Parts: sequence; C-alpha cells; structure tokens
Amino acid sequence: MCGIFGIASTKSTRNKLYQGLMKLEYRGYDSSGISGSDISSKLTTIKATGPIKNLRTKLTSLTRITTGIAHTRWATHGEAILKNTHPHLSENISIVHNGIIENYIELKSLLKKKRYSFKSDTDSEVISHLIHMNYKKTKNMESSIISTTKILKGSYAIGCMNTNYPNTIFAACKGSPLIIGKGVNENFIASDITPILSDTKHYIPLDDNEFAKITPSKVSIFNANKKIIIKKVKTSKMNSEQSSLSGHKHFMHKEIYEQKPILKEMTSRYVGTNKILPNIFGPGTDKILENIDHIHFVACGTSYHASLVAKDWIEEYTTITCTAEVASEYKYKKINVLPKTLFVSISQSGETADTISSLKKALKLKYSNTLAICNVAESTLTRLSKLVFLMNAGPEISVASTKAFTSQLFTLLLLTIVISRKFGNIENRMVKDIYKISEIIDSLYKLETDIKKISTKFKNKEHTIFLGKGTSYPIALEAALKLKEISYIHASAYHSGELKHGPLALVDKKMPVVCFLPDNHLARLVLSNLAEVEARQGQTFIFTNKKIPKKNNKVEIIKMPDCPDLIAPILYIIPAQLLSYHVALRKKTDVDKPRNLAKSVTVE
Ligand code: F6R
Repeated sequence: MCGIFGIASTKSTRNKLYQGLMKLEYRGYDSSGISGSDISSKLTTIKATGPIKNLRTKLTSLTRITTGIAHTRWATHGEAILKNTHPHLSENISIVHNGIIENYIELKSLLKKKRYSFKSDTDSEVISHLIHMNYKKTKNMESSIISTTKILKGSYAIGCMNTNYPNTIFAACKGSPLIIGKGVNENFIASDITPILSDTKHYIPLDDNEFAKITPSKVSIFNANKKIIIKKVKTSKMNSEQSSLSGHKHFMHKEIYEQKPILKEMTSRYVGTNKILPNIFGPGTDKILENIDHIHFVACGTSYHASLVAKDWIEEYTTITCTAEVASEYKYKKINVLPKTLFVSISQSGETADTISSLKKALKLKYSNTLAICNVAESTLTRLSKLVFLMNAGPEISVASTKAFTSQLFTLLLLTIVISRKFGNIENRMVKDIYKISEIIDSLYKLETDIKKISTKFKNKEHTIFLGKGTSYPIALEAALKLKEISYIHASAYHSGELKHGPLALVDKKMPVVCFLPDNHLARLVLSNLAEVEARQGQTFIFTNKKIPKKNNKVEIIKMPDCPDLIAPILYIIPAQLLSYHVALRKKTDVDKPRNLAKSVTVE
C-alpha cells in the first residue's frame, strides 16, 4: 500500500507535489520519490528512504518542473532501500504504482529475455519496462498502457509519464483506488482526495479497468477499447484541514485525549433524553434494522476488535446471530448468507483493501443490506456500501488507532440499541448508561500519572500476556495490539479461561500479565484465572473497579471508576492506550509512525 499523487500543470508544481505527498504519508513512509518534467520535457527524478521529509533537501533539483508524479512507499516486494523506491524508470518512461503485481516473476523473466535490465527488487518495475516495450511498438501511450495492464495479474493504481508527451500524466487502475482531480489549468491524480483538496474539490473516481490521460487543460477517461467514457464529476464536501499537535507531543496522545469530546459530540448528535434519535443510520434505517435476523461483521485489526465487542453486545440483548470475520479471511471463504442478513463493514479509513474487496464480494451475495461504519467521508468503502454511518471523529493521524476504536464502539452500541428495540424495553436504561460515558471519562485521564509509573515495568520486557473475559476479551486483544504496534513488545491476548489450556506454560516470575476486570458477573471467574497466574509468580497488572486485595508487590492494581457493564469496553481501553503510549515513550520508538506499518493498508 502506497500513496500516489500527480499534477499536470504548466506552472511550477514542486512544492505542491511535496505537500501532497505529505498528506498521503499515512499510506506508507518507507521511502518516497518524485519524477517531474519541465517545459523542455526533461525528466528529473528524486528519491529518499525513510519519511517523506527526507526528500526535502533534494527538492532543489525539481525547481523547474511543471508536471510530475510522486509516490510514498510501504514496502511489499523488496526492502525499503533507495533502489526499490518509486518512481521506476525505463528510459523515457517513469511510473508510480500502488498494489501488487502477482505475476511479476514471469513478467520479469520475459522482459529480461528482451534485454531489459532491472534496478530494483520490486514487482512494480515490470510496469515501466512493459509500457516502454509496448510504446516502442505502438508509439501510442494509450495503447501501451492498455496492453500492459492486460498482462498484469493482481492489483494496481498506476501513474505514468512519457517524455514524448509533455505535461501529460497517464493513469490506470484495478483493485487499488485512484481519483482524478479537476482543477483550474491543472489536473491531478491521487490515491485519495486529501492531497488535492487545497486546489480543487472536483474529482472523478477511476473505476477498475479504466484509464485516464491528464493534461493541464483536459482529462480524458477511456476504457480498454480506447473508447472515451463520460463520467460524472463529484464535488467533495471535505475541507483541507491541517492537523496539528495542539500542544501534545504525539498525535497518538492527542487522539487519546480527543476521545472525550468526540464521544460527547456523538452523544449529543444521536442520543435523545431516553431514546436514540430516529434513523441515525440513514433514511428509513430503523425499519430496515427491525427486519434483520443475522449480522455478518467484517473488518481488520482494531476495527475487527470493535466488531467482536458488537457481536457480544447484540447477541446479549437480541436473538440476532452475529459473525465477526477478519476481512482477509472473509474474502476467501464460502459464505452462507441466510435470509435477512445484514453485512456490516467497519473501517476507520474506508481504504483498507481487504475490507473493500470483502464488501465487493458481499454486494454480489444475497444480503438484505450493506452498512459501512467509517470515519472518512468519500472513501472507497463509503462509495460502495448501500448504507453508510460516518463517525466524524476527525482525521486520525497516528498509525495506532485510538479514537477511531472508541468511536466505532460507540456507533456499534447505538446499532445494538436500535436493533434491540423489538426485543424488550431496555432502550431507556441503555441510554442512561451512554450518558455516563462523558461523566466517567475524565477520571480515566487522571490515571495517566500512575500508568506512566507502571510503564517502567514493561520497558525491558520482550513478552506480555493480556487477559479478558466477555466483552473484555476484545479489549485485551486491542490493548495487546496497541502495545505490539508502538513498543515492539510481543503481546498475546487470551480469554482468561483459556490460560490454563496452554498459555499458562509461558507464565513465570518475569511474565507481565495484564488483565481487564470490570466488576461484573464474570469477575469471580477471572479472579480464579488470575490466581493461577499469581501461583506461578507472574506479575499481574489488573485494570479493575472491583475491590481486590493487593497481596504483594507482584500485583499492580489500576483502580478503574465504577461504570455500567454495557459501556465498560469503551472505557477500559483508554488507560490501556495510555499504557502502550508510555511504554513506547520509554522505549523511544517512533510512536506515531511505528516501524513496518502504515496508517492505511491498501494492499491485500
Ligand atoms: C491498529 C490499526 C489497524 C487498523 C486496520 C484496519 O492500530 O490501526 O489494525 O485498525 O489496519 O484499518 P481500517 O479501520 O482503516 O480499515
């Protein structure tokens, strides 16, 4: 997954290309590069490894460029080193690519036989050579790009320049998103809308197997028969907002603290005095949701953890059966869809390739409806889903998801309440519980000082275990994911009752065991599981509102506020986010941009 940006213009575009690339950095930051041509059509290419800011010192060589393509890379094929950085060149051709070319090994050997030599280990470089080879034959770029994509297997969004076509960018896509931005005397290509918003709100999403030729004054879209396609130009409602740290040291910290105003705002937007407001999932949705017997949730990572909580909530308060599946599995499984089944995809970015292709698959199955719960308006997921719920949590910059998770949980709690209406008169009580979130949340932030102290005990650990039961199990999964992502400490999460079935063998006096223990009907059982850990001298860190004795200094109790069980998952994750943040600070990792990751996973 990578980010692509390009501008066809007659004015200087160097700074805009760099700024645009910065806005796409969430898609990958292993390395980045820009190819640009000046009025004489001379092509110049710069590349740098590491975050995009490393390109800055090389920008001077692009002073005169008017049209250019830019790329930020998340390495899939080939290490994150300079030779694998895009754009890839083949003489007068330069390309940037997002996606994966599955048959690149065959194509590479075919091209080698035709005397093409390869400078990189990437799958993408075959594209530049194939276009070059085809162009030599046809002397026509439209035909060359079409015949190149015909032999590519896999997914791609491609931006391409040819010095024989001054001020022109060619684009193609299949399975990886690409939009065309329409500006004034300049036009754009981009992986998503964000880098073009400071110049234009008008855009055309390129669909699979479509191609585009972009010059400063014209955008032509054509199909594989070279037939021009007339497409509707959309107008974005998004603003080009610059995210700032607002006094926080990291975006993750800022976003952890933003959870309070976001949840408050969501409450006032969707929750009445004793009822959820009508049709919050879109016009007519209360009726649609009344007619549901089954739900299939599909998501990845943190969003998948949110779906696990939702499954428990819904099955607890209704007779609706739910499955929660990770999108990368859903796509390749036989799916049995019973009548009256709702498909729900959950995604912060709306650009996660696995989730998008799962939704595409679901749209072909006999679901009664599809609902996307998403944070990014005008994302691919929201464009495809029939029903859409936008969380409006604001841009999440830190790679480790925090505020998106609690916003997802809040949305799924609203969904639970709406669909549980016909199963009993509990809406009033549940709404009262929702109002308690904003009352309690402040006391969680007050735990930060204690959590900071506790974080020292994790600094030199290589392994940790996280435990939970009921809806606290997905919280253990999510807390473990947070710790892994930003502190690089291995963390495994288990249902607390599963410990004795194997993982207990890992517990010794050095093993930290973190447990989420809201004082509910399951607490007694979780305490027994913790006793098994303590008997093996494991170090326990217990987030709980239950009064439990601190038997010795191997037990660390993080005193949680009392809260209704329904909202416990939303509240318990917040101190766990703070814990991983402070462990990461102690380990001096790059909190907002952890190694090997990207904010949006746009490859399958
Ligand atoms: C973890 C994290 C990832 C994402 C996952 C899905 O902190 O951010 O696990 O949750 O890649 O991303 P979205 O929600 O954008 O589909």
